[in-house]
Amino acid sequence: MSDRSQLISTGEPFEFDKKRDAEFERLIKRYPTRESMILPALWLTQEQEGWVSQEAIGYIADRIGTFAAKVYEAATFYTMYNLKPTGKYHICVCRTLSCWLRGKQEIVDYLRDEVGVTPGKKTEDGKFSLEEVECLGHCGTAPVVQINGEFYENMDVEQLKSLLATLE
Ligand code: FES
Repeated sequence: MSDRSQLISTGEPFEFDKKRDAEFERLIKRYPTRESMILPALWLTQEQEGWVSQEAIGYIADRIGTFAAKVYEAATFYTMYNLKPTGKYHICVCRTLSCWLRGKQEIVDYLRDEVGVTPGKKTEDGKFSLEEVECLGHCGTAPVVQINGEFYENMDVEQLKSLLATLE
């Protein structure tokens, strides 16, 4: 299992771009408490940067008006948040029971042997990164793979091969 307690610093200040800033302001009016915005704000960050840095945690805490520790807790608890830079295509393979029983390991082995990426790492060209994650909530159509937020269900090696070939 990867260590999700460590945050990476970019050494640069972080802030939302115009689009995410507007979305943040739109959403925060709809939530009963400002702290309910922690998870959506982490999503906005990930949508913008592909991952969540140490600076982003501080920024979100300031924007919401809460402790950085609370944002950190959420970011490190939920495996859907990437805590390090990802490849252009970030592949998440569910490793929980249904997916495990229905062949997730063949998918992970294929990615290691044929694509050259192992969990927690990127390919040398930075095109793909891989992470094994907990249940993606589509257990009835296991095994499930998610690439840059899109779900692909009932996956097998052949389908994944075809799918990856379409990604430039
Ligand atoms: S076990 Fe894989 S989606 Fe639930």
